[in-house]
Amino acid sequence: MVQLTLPKNSQVKSGKLWPKPEGAKKLTEFQIYRWSPDDGENPHIDTYYVDREACGPMILDGLLFIKNHIDPTLTLRRSCREGICGSCAMNIDGSNTLACITGMDDVKHPIKIYPLPSMPVVKDLVPDLNHFYAQHRMVEPWLKTVAPEPEKEWLQSHEDRLKLDGLYECILCACCQTSCPSYWWNGDRYLGPAVLLQAYRWIADSRDEAKGERLDNLEDPFRLYRCHTIMNCTQTCPKGLNPAKAIAEIKKLMAERQV
Ligand code: SF4
Ligand code: SF4
Ligand code: FES
Repeated sequence: MVQLTLPKNSQVKSGKLWPKPEGAKKLTEFQIYRWSPDDGENPHIDTYYVDREACGPMILDGLLFIKNHIDPTLTLRRSCREGICGSCAMNIDGSNTLACITGMDDVKHPIKIYPLPSMPVVKDLVPDLNHFYAQHRMVEPWLKTVAPEPEKEWLQSHEDRLKLDGLYECILCACCQTSCPSYWWNGDRYLGPAVLLQAYRWIADSRDEAKGERLDNLEDPFRLYRCHTIMNCTQTCPKGLNPAKAIAEIKKLMAERQV
């Protein structure tokens, strides 16, 4: 008979209640997923209090307050703090989004934070994105041409350039990728919304001369066709992009070239 219980060490337990910062008048409670590969313990949820008068208004400000003033072992990724690098992607209040552009007052309290779902965890809020990056490499995200190199640059009309709007802005944060149920179940073979949006970004580029080859690479029951238009990806994208539409455009091109 199939065993459906989780292995013991995967169960998330309640963790430590950290002391409130001394003298703070306005506090916000954070409940944060903690797990370390080094101590053999189960994942647990630690509770912290952030002094709102001693830090900025964003969730990332709160996390850095915790790291700098309460618990330096809390591990997370961040870099640009303005929604450009994609590294602070995490699950906040049940949605995948960027900690640096989400206000502490824009989500329910206590503020619950987990790593992006469905990816292996390196530590605390840091997911292992190696597989995601390998899938991104598979779609060869660069301009491919056969025509002789122009002296200066590959030109593009204004109208053709506009076709890349809604695609080139993707920062590869993986919020959409890790919110997609099809990707949770088939992430080993399904490319997922972020990677497919990136694939379409090059298919749609008038300067690229490998459209047929790119479509051949996606013609597979798993790589593309595991998208069942559930739309979680589009709902969650913190940059307001529409990966589900990009996937639909690829499917349309596939259908067109069969007639
Ligand atoms: S629309 Fe497709 S890619 Fe987006 S969440 Fe649904 S199944 Fe995943
Ligand atoms: S489409 Fe949006 S959610 Fe997905 S990786 Fe790009 S920026 Fe992130
Ligand atoms: S820190 Fe770069 S997107 Fe948040």
